[in-house]
Amino acid sequence: MRDLLVYGHPLVATFTLLLAFFVFRDGFAQRKQRLRGIQAPPALRPRHLKWGPWSSGLMAVSAVGGMVSTVALRKWELLATFHGKLGLATTLLFGVMWWLGRRLVAGDKHLAGRHGVLGLLGLFAGGLTGVLGISMLP
Ligand code: HEM
Ligand code: HEM
Repeated sequence: MRDLLVYGHPLVATFTLLLAFFVFRDGFAQRKQRLRGIQAPPALRPRHLKWGPWSSGLMAVSAVGGMVSTVALRKWELLATFHGKLGLATTLLFGVMWWLGRRLVAGDKHLAGRHGVLGLLGLFAGGLTGVLGISMLP
């Protein structure tokens, strides 16, 4: 059973990263519309607003899941890996993005650039976290 459970965190996290990529793609279309006037299909904005919070929430679930897995299943020292630290930093970025996103919805349009740059950073940090995680698989 334990042999199967250790794949739980990698599975949830891989799904989280895929979702983050699609959320970013929809956000990026909004950016092109904002900066270059390239019209984005109207359905993309509500889709971004629907899945953005899921993306941030699942990132937190992934990080907590990874730490629980590390301590309870692998019996490793907590946060001794770069993967773990980068995973936490990614989660923090997604938390700030969530907060900026909510302020954007409330009308603080000047925060769009910051939200977008953090989105790109978050996606890179998450991607690197995922690649580093592969070498930690059993
Ligand atoms: C967590 C909840 C989130 C909310 C409420 C949210 C909300 C928004 C809103 C309102 C916009 C502006 C759309 C417009 O111009 O009308 C936006 C843009 C954007 N979002 Fe999000 N978002 C969230 C999460 C994310 C995440 C997780 C990512 C990346 C992984 C992301 C990446 C982007 C990008 C790249 C833009 C374009 C910003 C720009 O114009 O420069 N967002 N978001
Ligand atoms: C969404 C991005 C991810 C985040 C935020 C994340 C976060 C974490 C954290 C915080 C830990 C605890 C590490 C420690 O205490 O040193 C961990 C452990 C681990 N992560 Fe990730 N991770 C992510 C993606 C992945 C992916 C994509 C894989 C594999 C394909 C992976 C494989 C692992 C493994 C094997 C462990 C050790 C615990 C276990 O065996 O379940 N992670 N992760």
